[in-house]
Amino acid sequence: MSKPRILVARAIFPDIVDRLREHFDVEDNPADAIWTPHELAARLADKDGALTTGSQRIDAALLAAAPRLKICANMAVGYNNFDVDAMTSAGVQGTNTPDVLTETTADFGFALLMATARRMTESEHYLRAGKWTKWSYDMFAGSDIHGSTLGIIGMGRIGQGIARRGAHGFGMKVVYHNRSRLSPALEAECKATYVGKEELLRTADHVVLVVPYSAASHHTIGAAELALMKPTATLINIARGGIVDDAALAVVLRDRRIAAAGLDVFEGEPSVHPDLLTVPNVVLTPHIASATVPTRRAMANLAADNLIAFLGGQGPLTPVNQPAPGLRGQ
Ligand code: DGY
Repeated sequence: MSKPRILVARAIFPDIVDRLREHFDVEDNPADAIWTPHELAARLADKDGALTTGSQRIDAALLAAAPRLKICANMAVGYNNFDVDAMTSAGVQGTNTPDVLTETTADFGFALLMATARRMTESEHYLRAGKWTKWSYDMFAGSDIHGSTLGIIGMGRIGQGIARRGAHGFGMKVVYHNRSRLSPALEAECKATYVGKEELLRTADHVVLVVPYSAASHHTIGAAELALMKPTATLINIARGGIVDDAALAVVLRDRRIAAAGLDVFEGEPSVHPDLLTVPNVVLTPHIASATVPTRRAMANLAADNLIAFLGGQGPLTPVNQPAPGLRGQ
């Protein structure tokens, strides 16, 4: 019997592609080309499954051009590149990679918070440029992390990990805002207090965004929200581009209406709003919050396991939708 055909849409660990070849007829992308939607559709025309990343948009037009496609296994916890309703109506299973990246991403969120509050990249650029000629009392003086108030918007698993680090490791007072409140037990464990979004923005010294992207969360932080923040506050976005209005943020950073920002994700990435590149009080990283070797391997393996389980006739391991069975012959 012939093996199911799958597409691995971006370069991933070669040994994990080899593992997939034990189960499937695999077309991969070792050159890591970024295919246009048209090129992606052409490659998916005869495929049963795909291992995708956030850079492939899976929508109704693509699904219509891929009549055999039964599953897209995203190598990411976020799946805003999926039109989930279109996938469900077309009978296509979507999966993501929760849990395996939680602690690594929380580590990075905290690292970005610390680098931003303590002006680490700005001061390094100064030193590398040969500008450091003497010590001075206020040179790159930033803001404290220990004992300050940490405001977390989006209190899923990663948000909770950041709360634990702040409360237990740095003695921070933690406030959070989320669609729903955590259980009292989880609030106690994270030492976190639920507050309204406006109160959080007014009171937090450091605001961290970990909310999933959707039409409803688009520009969760825009000019009006930035205006509520303390002039000494920092804003950290490890969620998704589009959660923050980057143009509005560049203006408040330039005018020092907030102290600093740390951004790992951007509207329209990999493009970055040009004004963010010219303001000094922002730490910029290229969407690497989950990027450790063990975690990226775990993400790729979980995406592979979803393909193997689902196309092997078992249920998906980490589904993001529940399409009616049988629509695509699965
Ligand atoms: C995720 O897993 O969603 C990360 O942002 C990587 O895309």
